[in-house]
Amino acid sequence: MTDQNRVYIFDTTLRDGEQSPGATMSHAEKLEIAAMLDEMGVDIIEAGFPIASEGDFKAVSEIARQSQNSVICGLARAQIPDIDRCWEAIRHAKRPRIHTFIGTSPLHRAIPNLDMDQMAERIEQTVTHARNLCDNVQWSPMDATRTEHDYLCRVVEIAIKCGATTINIPDTVGYTAPKESADLIRMLIERVPGADGIIFATHCHNDLGMATANSLAAVEAGARQIECTINGLGERAGNTALEEVVMAMRVRHDIMPFDTGVDTTKIMGISRRVAQVSGFPVQFNKAIVGKNAFLHESGIHQDGVLKNVETFEIMRPADIGLNENNIAMGKHSGRAALRAKLKDLGYEVGDNQLKDVFVRFKALADRKKEVYDEDIVALMQDSAANTGDDYLQVKHLRVVCGSDGQTADLTLIVDGQEQTASTTGDGPVDAVFNAVRQIYPHEARLQLYQVHAVTEGTDAQATVSVRMEEEGRIATGQAADTDTILASVKAYIGALNRLRVRREQVGKDADAKQVSMYSH
Ligand code: KIV
Ligand code: ZN
Repeated sequence: MTDQNRVYIFDTTLRDGEQSPGATMSHAEKLEIAAMLDEMGVDIIEAGFPIASEGDFKAVSEIARQSQNSVICGLARAQIPDIDRCWEAIRHAKRPRIHTFIGTSPLHRAIPNLDMDQMAERIEQTVTHARNLCDNVQWSPMDATRTEHDYLCRVVEIAIKCGATTINIPDTVGYTAPKESADLIRMLIERVPGADGIIFATHCHNDLGMATANSLAAVEAGARQIECTINGLGERAGNTALEEVVMAMRVRHDIMPFDTGVDTTKIMGISRRVAQVSGFPVQFNKAIVGKNAFLHESGIHQDGVLKNVETFEIMRPADIGLNENNIAMGKHSGRAALRAKLKDLGYEVGDNQLKDVFVRFKALADRKKEVYDEDIVALMQDSAANTGDDYLQVKHLRVVCGSDGQTADLTLIVDGQEQTASTTGDGPVDAVFNAVRQIYPHEARLQLYQVHAVTEGTDAQATVSVRMEEEGRIATGQAADTDTILASVKAYIGALNRLRVRREQVGKDADAKQVSMYSH
């Protein structure tokens, strides 16, 4: 491997990913994801946007203090107070980086009402200020792919002269295509004085489904940093997916001879955890990490794979940390076997957690003859999403449904007190959600209700995801059970619990404040 072929992986799951409406993570969850990214060999972690809220600031500062290997980066608009706040949050990192940006395309210039010269002056001031604080500065012209080429070259040159060490070229609205993405990087490298001394980065959004292709094309043209998120999490159609670019360069090393520092066997574990804490499930046919990515169900494919796996598999499940021997467990499996299985699936559990999970595993094994890996992952996700000390908890549920109508008798524990309701509805889920509303009146609106079977068979567990909105705040809930209606009510109250926590936080530190991305 020559250094020229080393591509730096910049993960922005905790900043651009978390910015996606509804993907908000708790403080502890952010720290946990950052530790996983650090351990898997991500070069740079964009930990958050410190000026956005007290909560963001605290998370970035703690990630900066805890990280062992990765560069820790914070985002700041082109404003001196933003940059100072960012530096305050990241300065304790072993290797801090300030990332400052401003929208340079005509549409973005119009909002702060800066003309080309005024904006150039602002870039000069802010990049110089950032560089005086930190020797590792990244600068981004937001909406670069819709910025006039001459102006883009002019501002990139200014940023380099003022000390930026990485220039990131964002395709903010997912508008570009592979050839154009490559041509843009090539043009900047050729035309901008000083370009040979810095790293160019590519930051693509997936609105037209081309983020991975656009990122790889930029690398072919000379970019050496890819900005991406786990599972492609991000606003609208998301960002470039880390697992896709990393595995593409690994599997097609013959035509893309680029290397990263990522331990790919950690991909599956972090993908599951991000799906769980963000409340954004991974689509079944998602490249690399989707449930079906390594399934060969059609007869022809199965036959080929059994004879020689290479007939239909271009990578091995183990390469991404997916356990190949999905041997089912059952009610006779002991605690040691469960611990070993959890370890295989990427979960390290302490003795107390193992005790809890074991009780739930036994209950599941009593209802379901064979417990597969997917069931255990669902069990872990459910226990993390719905803890024993939540404000609302399900105590008892009985639903009668059929052609004669649907009724639900529900008992919830509300702040330690049992409360019961009996309701009807338009179907069993509606009946039980009406019961929740009767016990715990709320204004939150259900935006999404989704059910997936975890495995095959009529005894399969169902994973239910719900998304709720209240005064602009969004929260998700997830739960799994062989009883779909029980999973539904648990997911519903899970989201209500999260909304409640968020409402309280707003009172404390205005955490939900939506910060404009413009520098006025
Ligand atoms: O998409 C984008 O332009 C961004 C910038 C803040 C880098 O996320
Ligand atoms: Zn972005």
